[in-house]
Amino acid sequence: MAREACDKALVITVNGRRRAYKGPPFKRLLDVLREDFGLTGAKEGCGEGECGACTVLLDHAPVASCLVPASQAEGRRVDTVESLARSKALSPLQKSFMEEAASQCGICTPGILLTAWSWVKSGGSADPQAIREYLSGNLCRCTGYQSIVDAVVKTVRRSKKESLIRRQVSPHDYLPPRGGGK
Ligand code: FES
Ligand code: FES
Repeated sequence: MAREACDKALVITVNGRRRAYKGPPFKRLLDVLREDFGLTGAKEGCGEGECGACTVLLDHAPVASCLVPASQAEGRRVDTVESLARSKALSPLQKSFMEEAASQCGICTPGILLTAWSWVKSGGSADPQAIREYLSGNLCRCTGYQSIVDAVVKTVRRSKKESLIRRQVSPHDYLPPRGGGK
């Protein structure tokens, strides 16, 4: 049975693309991403689920990929830090990190970006304390955290402002043509 599982490729949707992994089903997702798929954004810190450097999103939720066997990701969606920037343009969250100098040595940064992104995407608030708690599984030895929290606050505020502008603008898109269109 175990042999059968080894021979069968596991299909995982990584950064929107279906990828096949053929190898030991209990290989860590972190190693599959880095060694088999060439996505080296996720970093290994402790290897024990304590530091968050290896964080990726599994079906939109942050997980420590050093604790997730490849078989657990089969048929699911995985997003790594490589998914944030599009066509070499930084995402709004990455821009905020740059503006606030929220990355120093950078080892923790991919994991923190993904946890923070899941906060922003799920409509999280700009409350610094709530953001600190959400990010508490991601450790940083360099920044003292304040600049990281500032960057997330800034991104949340910008995204709420943008969605407000979109809501203010969009009703006009649906106004009936002059004369009521009848
Ligand atoms: S390397 Fe996975 S949590 Fe530290
Ligand atoms: S920037 Fe160095 S560990 Fe966070």
